[in-house]
Amino acid sequence: MSVGRAPGKLILCGEHAVVYGHPAIAIAVGLFTEVEVTPCRRVEAEGDDRLREALSALAPQGGRFSIRSELPMGAGMGSSASLAVAAVRALGSALTLEEELEQAMRAERVFHGSPSGLDAAVIARGGALRFQRGAPPAMTPLPPPSWTGVVLDTGVPGDTRAMVAQVARGAHGPLLAEIGSIADAIGDHLDNIGLLGPLLTHNHALLRALGVSTPHLDHLVGEALALGATGAKLCGAGGGGVALALHPDPAALRDALRARGHRAMLVRPPQERQ
Ligand code: MEV
Repeated sequence: MSVGRAPGKLILCGEHAVVYGHPAIAIAVGLFTEVEVTPCRRVEAEGDDRLREALSALAPQGGRFSIRSELPMGAGMGSSASLAVAAVRALGSALTLEEELEQAMRAERVFHGSPSGLDAAVIARGGALRFQRGAPPAMTPLPPPSWTGVVLDTGVPGDTRAMVAQVARGAHGPLLAEIGSIADAIGDHLDNIGLLGPLLTHNHALLRALGVSTPHLDHLVGEALALGATGAKLCGAGGGGVALALHPDPAALRDALRARGHRAMLVRPPQERQ
């Protein structure tokens, strides 16, 4: 039996815009997926056909996969990319980062069609990352922020493939470019929640204008701001999933949100690559 492990992620800026070649900033977060694989002639895993198809793309020789994840599924925290990277790590030995990423993308394409590669890249590399799609993508590692964030979970899974297709149907060029234009400011202020917060809130407003937020996500963002968050935004493809809020006292914000009946948890970017 061999085991692989990989973290989750949160996108601080640039979801959707990154699909169109604009820069994005994402961080790895310390919630993990662990995959165990034992030899088997076919691919066996508990889950749906798409999961088995994705695992078959990684292990055409077969394997019995057992998956444990601390990440909410389909919530914008990189559950599929985390699973893909963890499975590649369980299957492979001594792969370079590029090889790991290249293999994880095979599974990501089964899950999402034509993903930008941002999720798998930040999850495989860890830390914080500025990412711009291309052949090859431009990736600049950034120091991981030291804050603890508050993740608010709508409890409603979002469908990345459907949300990306929805954005593609609109004429959103200027909005996507505006999202891309704040990525570098976000990258410059990663560790300063006073400056970072308002940029995140601005990004949320742009994502809302793009049509990927929901009344529930807007409500959670509004509640966090009313409780003193320096900023908040939906993270990931939207249509459900999670929002991130920053606050000088994250545990107090989490407790206040829970007292109002919301699902809230603390998340920290791991300081070491995992
Ligand atoms: C999903 O986590 C991020 C999106 O930008 C899709 C992608 O990058 O492929 C919505």
